[in-house]
Amino acid sequence: MSDLFTSLEVCPDDPILQLMVQARNDTNPLKVDLSVGIYKNDVGKTPVMNCVKAAEKRRTEQEDSKAYLGLAGDLRFNKLVTELALGANHSANSDGRVSTIQTTGGSGAIRIAAELIKRIKPGTKVWVSNPTWANHIPILKSAGLEIATYSYYQPGERGVRFAEMMQELSTAQHGDVILLQGSCHNPCGEDLSLEQWRLLTNFVLEKGLLPFVDIAYHGLSEDLDQDSLGWRHMAASVPEMLICYSGSKNFSLYRDRVGVLISVSPDQNSAHILLTNMMNISRVVYSLPPAHGGYLVAEILEDVELRQMWMSELDQIRLRITTMRTGLADALLQRLDSDRFEFIRDQQGMFSFLGISAEQVLSMRESHGIYLLNSSRINIAGITSTNLEHLADAVASVI
Ligand code: LMR
Repeated sequence: MSDLFTSLEVCPDDPILQLMVQARNDTNPLKVDLSVGIYKNDVGKTPVMNCVKAAEKRRTEQEDSKAYLGLAGDLRFNKLVTELALGANHSANSDGRVSTIQTTGGSGAIRIAAELIKRIKPGTKVWVSNPTWANHIPILKSAGLEIATYSYYQPGERGVRFAEMMQELSTAQHGDVILLQGSCHNPCGEDLSLEQWRLLTNFVLEKGLLPFVDIAYHGLSEDLDQDSLGWRHMAASVPEMLICYSGSKNFSLYRDRVGVLISVSPDQNSAHILLTNMMNISRVVYSLPPAHGGYLVAEILEDVELRQMWMSELDQIRLRITTMRTGLADALLQRLDSDRFEFIRDQQGMFSFLGISAEQVLSMRESHGIYLLNSSRINIAGITSTNLEHLADAVASVI
């Protein structure tokens, strides 16, 4: 009889997904779940987008086989998402230097990218922002990569600590990787300006670093084109780059696991080599990506009417988030007679830190039924016109 399993220890809870489950099970009628980054409408639901419903109808009618797709996944989807991320006529793409594979969501793309970096050079150092998404470091470490951090943002402040970031990155060595986020930084809601992307692009070129950009909130800051100016500039200027793209948030397809990994290579030959490596890694990590969500996104992006529908639904999502940002900032300004929380008004996308202590976070949860991450990150898209006053009262009472 083997006794291998008994050597294992219990794993710690996932800091985000465990809270989501805890909030779901809470029976307090006044509970507010601001934990996991999921968009909710003003009645607290995460609806299926109308464009997705329409695409699903077509899929049911048209799909005539469930046979495997190839290792790169759905090629139509890959082409359309690459154009969405880089812009239809991006030079790297028209030069044939771009390779794309479909992945199981943005996290799947990060995992494949991490394995690819390991294959190029085991133990490569990856610079990640402090703070960063709670799952970045675990995924990168699981491929044996070394982690270094650069200062990016301090909870409670306004703006990126760019000078400090560049100062710390100055010790990066040729061949190191720098992980950046596309728009709507998770967890802090502070993005680099176009000017900062330009400076960073020059820096990456001078130092010989590999930029690795994680895009999970495309279209949730200003609009699809404005949001992409920085990473598109970088992709047009550097010889090599990795991009992970998630469709979870901007297509509201969370559980369907929609994503791609894109690589930009110096020439067509290396682009082909990259593609074969990305597919080869996918084969040993999870073989093939799921087909359903990829089909829906491809159908939406290719069809003029569905694409229009999607863009206006995305506008509504963005508008509601901005309205909740303004509402919370106003409510806190009124209650506290101080501009302490004005940064919430100005930040971008789904997340901001409240900048309160772990005890205050716990008290929000235990005394008011409000779930936020221990780091004090809140999901702005979980605020509704019904729970906003309760939230503002709770913040005012714990600080
Ligand atoms: C989040 O940060 O809440 C989301 O990206 C969901 C996740 O998987 O962590």
